[in-house]
Amino acid sequence: MEARICVLPGDGVGPEVTAEAVACLKAVAERFGHRFHFQEALIGGAAVDATGDPLPEATLELCRASDAVLLGAVGGPAWDKHPRHQRPESGLLRLRKALGLYANLRPVTVHPALEDASPLKPEVVRGTDVMFVRELSGGLYFGEPRSYSDQTAVNTLPYTRPEIERVAKVAFELALGRRNHLVSVDKANVLETSRLWRQVVDDMAPLYPEVKVQHAYVDSFAMALITKPREFDVVLTENLFGDILSDEAAVLAGSLGLLPSASLGGSVGVYEPIHGSAPDIAGQDRANPIGTILSAAMLLRHALNLSSEAQEIETAVHQTLQEGHGTGDLKGARHPQGTRGLGACILQRLGAAVSQP
Ligand code: IPM
Ligand code: MG
Repeated sequence: MEARICVLPGDGVGPEVTAEAVACLKAVAERFGHRFHFQEALIGGAAVDATGDPLPEATLELCRASDAVLLGAVGGPAWDKHPRHQRPESGLLRLRKALGLYANLRPVTVHPALEDASPLKPEVVRGTDVMFVRELSGGLYFGEPRSYSDQTAVNTLPYTRPEIERVAKVAFELALGRRNHLVSVDKANVLETSRLWRQVVDDMAPLYPEVKVQHAYVDSFAMALITKPREFDVVLTENLFGDILSDEAAVLAGSLGLLPSASLGGSVGVYEPIHGSAPDIAGQDRANPIGTILSAAMLLRHALNLSSEAQEIETAVHQTLQEGHGTGDLKGARHPQGTRGLGACILQRLGAAVSQP
């Protein structure tokens, strides 16, 4: 098949990790006889520096004209003092909104070779397989009114029934293809928005009689997630709760650098690791490329419907970890590698001819 993939490397470690993921996509294309056309564009701080806008119109146009978007990361201390509209993060948020991406899938699994990489006990994390479905285009991130002064600041947490329904539908359907269990996270004991959230999920539950639905308050869920993670299958959250809980869940996997995501809902999806731009290690060949490489696998599966190809990448990552290769963030990796070295290990298993850097 032929596909157009827009690559948005962004800031910090973004360019390094996307380069490895693009190499994997090229290897897969070669192997399976596909033609992927890659085009790069600016986002985040890199775009602010070049154009004054964290999401230039040309970038948005290119994304809209592509079959999928692969993104690295945005942000960094250089832009921390900028007003909100010129912060790298606002470019990413506008991109998600403009493309209509309301469902963010964040799978969290614990690789058998990495059971000791987590600060939690191996017997706690072993066998974890959770799929977060995070609402991505509403809630506090976008709610109006919002304002800031040095005396008073305001953010608003709105959700409408249709906004909740469309993301809950994604979660219910994922549960059907998994272990038929859905936990919906809220703060319904305090927030009206959460009361509506809970009501909408309950109203939809009869449409999916196979799925067992449970509700959890976000505070107690935050504890349960790291004390009994195996009890969870699909976890549905609003935007901010999902942002927080998915970073927490990364502790189960052993490193934030491992986790991929897919943002879906519109005609073009965005695939990006859940980690940030990690400015402290940028440009040092130290970042873990696996979160982005697994995001590329999600791209193949969700955007291009190429599940064998996606599986191929996932297997290559699995074997690489199994054999003890890993970047410095993976505690106890027997064969320490840099970003490029780890990418090369994965590429080799994809059948690409690579020279170890
Ligand atoms: C994420 C990130 C973003 C978010 C930031 C960079 C705006 O933390 O994708 O989890 O909060 O959604
Ligand atoms: Mg986050």
